Amino acid sequence: MITPNLFYSDLKDSYLFYNIAQKTKAYLSEHPNAHLYRMGIGDVSLPLCESVIKALHEAVDDQAQAATFHGYMPECGAEFLREAIAAYYGNRNVKLSPDEVFVSSGASDELGDILDLFDRENTSLVIEPAYPAYVDANVMGGRKIQHLASGIDNGFLPLPDDIIKADILYICSPNNPTGAVFNREQLKKWVDYANDNGAVILFDAAYEAFIEDDALPHSIFEIEGARTCAIEICSLSKTAGFTGTRLGYTIIPKELERKGMNFNTMWVRNRTTKTNGVSYIIQKGAAAVFTPEGQKQIHNNIRIYKENAACLMKALDELGIWYCGGKNAPYIWMKCPDGMRSWEFFDYLLNEIQVVGTPGEGFGKCGEGYFRFSTFGNPDDTKEAARRLSGLLGKAKKNEV
Ligand code: MLT
Repeated sequence: MITPNLFYSDLKDSYLFYNIAQKTKAYLSEHPNAHLYRMGIGDVSLPLCESVIKALHEAVDDQAQAATFHGYMPECGAEFLREAIAAYYGNRNVKLSPDEVFVSSGASDELGDILDLFDRENTSLVIEPAYPAYVDANVMGGRKIQHLASGIDNGFLPLPDDIIKADILYICSPNNPTGAVFNREQLKKWVDYANDNGAVILFDAAYEAFIEDDALPHSIFEIEGARTCAIEICSLSKTAGFTGTRLGYTIIPKELERKGMNFNTMWVRNRTTKTNGVSYIIQKGAAAVFTPEGQKQIHNNIRIYKENAACLMKALDELGIWYCGGKNAPYIWMKCPDGMRSWEFFDYLLNEIQVVGTPGEGFGKCGEGYFRFSTFGNPDDTKEAARRLSGLLGKAKKNEV
C-alpha cells in the first residue's frame, strides 16, 4: 500500500487563517445580519491601480490577435518583467542582472517551493513569532526546525548570537506579524553568520514597500556580503494589491553556491521542469507597477493603508496599550489587555464589537498574549473598528478604576 507523507501528521490540524475564517463563518451563521470589521488576514481592500488595469486590458487584447498572441511564457519570467524588476532594485543601488530575477506566482507559493533547493537534513531557523507557512512548509518537508523566540526585550529583532546550528535562515523584514524592521547593522550580523557558517538566508521582503524610514534597508542585497548567502523572495500582493491577481519574484544571485553547486542554476533547472511560467497577461500587469506612473499610483494606495494604521495606532495610544509596527509595516502587533490570552481576546473582540484580528499564538508560542491587526482593510471599516475598540477597551479600563 502506498505510504503518504507521514510528516503531515506533525502539522497542526488546520492553518491559522483557515481557523479564523471558520470562526468568523460560524459567528455569521449565528448572527446573519452582523457586519464584521475584518482586520485578520492581510488581504488588500483597494482595487488595482489604473496603470495596472490598463496594462492588463492591453494584454488581453494582445491575446486576441495572432500577431501579438503569447502561448507558453519563459519559465523563469518574461524578459521585460525581469528587466523592470532588476531596474527597480537598481534605483536603490542594488545591482542585479535580469537572470538573477525569477518571476513567480506569489511569495507564499515560492517560500515553500524554494525548499526543493535544500537537503532534507538541513535545519531551518524560524524567528518567532513568524508567518506560519514557514513552519508548515518545513514540517511537510520533514525538516528539523529551530524556533528562535523574540520578544519585547529585543524589539522582536533577535540576532544570531544564540543559534546552535541552522542552515536555512528565515528572515522577514518588515516583519509579519510584528511589523519590526531590521536595520543595516543587524542584518549585517545575519549575513556574516550565514557566510561564516555556510548557511543560506531566505529573506522575505513582501512588505518592503511600506518602509518609510529612509535609513532602513528594503532588500537583503543592500547589505555587503549578501550575494554569497541570500535568496530574496518578494511579492506584489501587498505592494500593489495583487493578492487575487498573483505575482511574485525571487532573487538568486549568481555567486550563491554551496558544496560546488550553484543555486541560480539549480533554480533555473527547477523552474524549467516544474512550471510553465506565469501568465503573459499578469506579467504585463506586473510590469506596469514598475513604471513611474505605476509607482506613484501604488504609493497612493499604500498611503491609504498607512492612514488606517495611524487611526488604529491613535486608538491604542489613547488606551495606553503597548504595540509595535504600523509605521514601516502594514501590521500592528499589540499586547492583549488584562493578561488575556490571544484566542480569548479574538473571541472577545468578535463577540463584543465584531472586529476580527489575528491571535498572536497563531504565529508561534511566543506570540501568546499578543494580537495582530492588519491595516489593509476598508478605510471606513477601520475607522469604525478603531472607534469600537476604544469604546470597548476604554470602558473595561474605567470599570477597573
Ligand atoms: C497574513 O495575513 O499574514 C498574510 O496575508 C498571509 C499571506 O500573505 O499569505
